[in-house]
Amino acid sequence: MFKAQYASIASLGLLVFVVQPAAAVSYNLVKDYSGSTFFDEWVFYDHFDNLTNGDAVFVSASTAASSKLAFVDSGSGHAIVKVDNTSQVPSNEKRNTVRISTKDRYAVGSVWVADMFHVPFGCSVWPAWWSQAPDWPIGGEIDTFEGVNQVTHNQMGLHTTTGCNQVSPVQSSTLVNSTNCDHLADSNLGCIVTNPDAASYGQAFSAAGGGIFVTELASSGISYVPQGGLKHAFTE
Ligand SMILES: *[C@@H]1O[C@H](CO)[C@@H](O)[C@H](O)[C@H]1NC(C)=O
Ligand SMILES: *[C@@H]1O[C@H](CO)[C@@H](O)[C@H](O)[C@H]1NC(C)=O
Ligand SMILES: *[C@@H]1O[C@H](CO)[C@@H](O)[C@H](O)[C@H]1NC(C)=O
Repeated sequence: MFKAQYASIASLGLLVFVVQPAAAVSYNLVKDYSGSTFFDEWVFYDHFDNLTNGDAVFVSASTAASSKLAFVDSGSGHAIVKVDNTSQVPSNEKRNTVRISTKDRYAVGSVWVADMFHVPFGCSVWPAWWSQAPDWPIGGEIDTFEGVNQVTHNQMGLHTTTGCNQVSPVQSSTLVNSTNCDHLADSNLGCIVTNPDAASYGQAFSAAGGGIFVTELASSGISYVPQGGLKHAFTE
């Protein structure tokens, strides 16, 4: 199940592939969430944020559509999930935003690809793109994209039950923030790696025209290809 939280991921497209039985590294396209039908197969959370207790209300599909927080832009055909930047919300009251999860679930042996042109950045936003198993923390959580408040680089993370540690970080050790993936450790910080690419999030990400985030969930491991500003490196 994939979720985009605290909204705000503008112009989003998602492709999901599953591994072809018998073939080593070949995937077949099984689902395409994009354009005019993008929002058709998602569940809108439709409740205030009782998960992280932010000052946020995750609205229903109808409210998101009528208030233009989640809609398909008629000009570009892009699916847009955006920040409410028109309401005056008093301190300690809650701002409407969007949290959506796919109706379908995808198993080990899947690759998912998210193509984002722009994501919100700056004070108090929390755009995120991640997946989680139905009985979290059992089955875990894979955070492919996350930008919190004023951070300027994408951070990727895993949250698991006890006993999972990151043992062979793929990037420079200076960018490893934490290696214990156990949700009970460090207030559920998770094992976190920061993408050293300056265009992986924030203003630079948007200025570069966004990017594609690829996540492979295979029995041999979980792999990410976070592509800040490198969206042309991929063909479908
Ligand atoms: C949040 O609210 C929803 C809807 O009432 C409920 O189903 C869910 O169990 C609540 N979650 C938590 C963590 O309280
Ligand atoms: C709100 O955001 C939209 C999309 O980025 C922008 O076009 C608009 O000018 C913004 N409105 C305000 C009041 O900042
Ligand atoms: C993670 O580590 C990087 C590199 O040391 C650092 O710049 C960044 O601020 C850290 N992120 C968090 C959320 O602590």
